Amino acid sequence: MVTFCYLKCPLLIFYQQTTTVCRLTSSLFFVEDVIRPISLPRFIRRTHLKKIFISIITVLVVITALFTRPALAADAAHGQQLFGTNCASCHAGGKNLVNPAKTLGLSDLEHYQMDSLEAITTQITKGKNAMPAFTGRLKPSDIEDIASYVLAQAQKGW
Ligand code: HEC
Repeated sequence: MVTFCYLKCPLLIFYQQTTTVCRLTSSLFFVEDVIRPISLPRFIRRTHLKKIFISIITVLVVITALFTRPALAADAAHGQQLFGTNCASCHAGGKNLVNPAKTLGLSDLEHYQMDSLEAITTQITKGKNAMPAFTGRLKPSDIEDIASYVLAQAQKGW
């Protein structure tokens, strides 16, 4: 295209001048096609460098988040599995078969100040009244997984 333009306008040296004259002199020219390959890189360099940089950072952050997500999902799945084997006998579906006043529903957890990861972790670790302690039976990391599963379920409404 550029060559084509040069051939048609041999008196001019610069592309942009060329295209302007071409536009004036010949309606057969596809002026945009000539301008695009010349001016786009310059346009990017001058005005869009920051935006491109920010976009690249954003893409990297998104990719990182996507790669991190399976780890979090695995913890939730692990917590769910451990809840099924250790807690569901008394807390199936977030209920409480032993003490029906103290369910794992959000309003009960809030009422008894159990609506935090720390409080739930402590309760699982040490037990309370009719609820057995799980220290020794579950690793601290397992207890954390269960606690975050319980809190997430409570917030979801089981
Ligand atoms: C043998 C039955 C039993 C098992 C098994 C059991 N719990 Fe409990 N859980 C209870 C009882 C009873 C309470 C009420 C304790 C009290 O008096 O404060 C309770 C209370 C709770 C509470 C506080 C609820 C509230 O509204 O205050 C949480 C959270 C909890 N259990 C989580 C778990 C988790 C997680 C597991 C499994 C690791 C588990 N429990 C296993 C019987 C059990």
